[in-house]
Amino acid sequence: MEIFADTADLKEIRSWLDFGVIDGVTTNPSIMLAGGVYDLRVGAQEIAKILGDKPLCVEVVSDDSDEMHRQAVEMAGWAPNIAVKIPIITTLGEPCLGVISRLTHAGIKVNATACMSFNQAMLAAKAGATYVSLFAGRISDEGADAAETVRRTANWLKTWDMPTKIVVGSIRETVNVQDAALAGAHVVTVPPKFLRQMIDHKYSRFTVAQFLADGQSAAKRMGALGLSLEANGGGAKKSAASRNK
Ligand code: E4P
Repeated sequence: MEIFADTADLKEIRSWLDFGVIDGVTTNPSIMLAGGVYDLRVGAQEIAKILGDKPLCVEVVSDDSDEMHRQAVEMAGWAPNIAVKIPIITTLGEPCLGVISRLTHAGIKVNATACMSFNQAMLAAKAGATYVSLFAGRISDEGADAAETVRRTANWLKTWDMPTKIVVGSIRETVNVQDAALAGAHVVTVPPKFLRQMIDHKYSRFTVAQFLADGQSAAKRMGALGLSLEANGGGAKKSAASRNK
């Protein structure tokens, strides 16, 4: 399973790449705005460069199919690793499947975004989307079972050998990441603050502190006994000074 960072924060992206954890990045207009990225092209190209050949998802900003298509073609030209996010429907409920299909046929990777149901994800996959984004938090807001939606979609894609990958986004709690991962998501896209919560644990901190303190106490006692530790694991040896006593 892949993990993407759901952010436009360059510092966080660099850190999580450095940790060897993330396989890509997702953004949307709200994330870009919150990150102070007003020039989409400049912001996207900066992130795309840091990512190397890992994918970056950037979303079109239009409610009109032709304009979405035009923007998507332009965005795909900004960097070779850009996948363009196309909403599954417009604000009036018109399907954006034609845009998804045309872009896919033109060799542009599409992330069909804002999907809230199995049926939407299925139709996006049929239209050729490389990724379908299921918004776990927003699905739960409506009282539906997000993990079950992911599970059904993953099973269906597998049964029919469809290449589309499920990206689970809209993470609100760390447990959502676990639920998505175990339900068969191919990708979970996680805001960095949750990645940090996922790695931290108060009892791990306590345990690490305990071992550190005991290790340091042992080193002090060895010092008091005139023993030194050899770096290559040779165990405790008497120091030259104490041997000559
Ligand atoms: C990612 O691709 C989505 O755009 C993002 O996770 C949506 O999250 P939200 O529901 O918290 O806005």
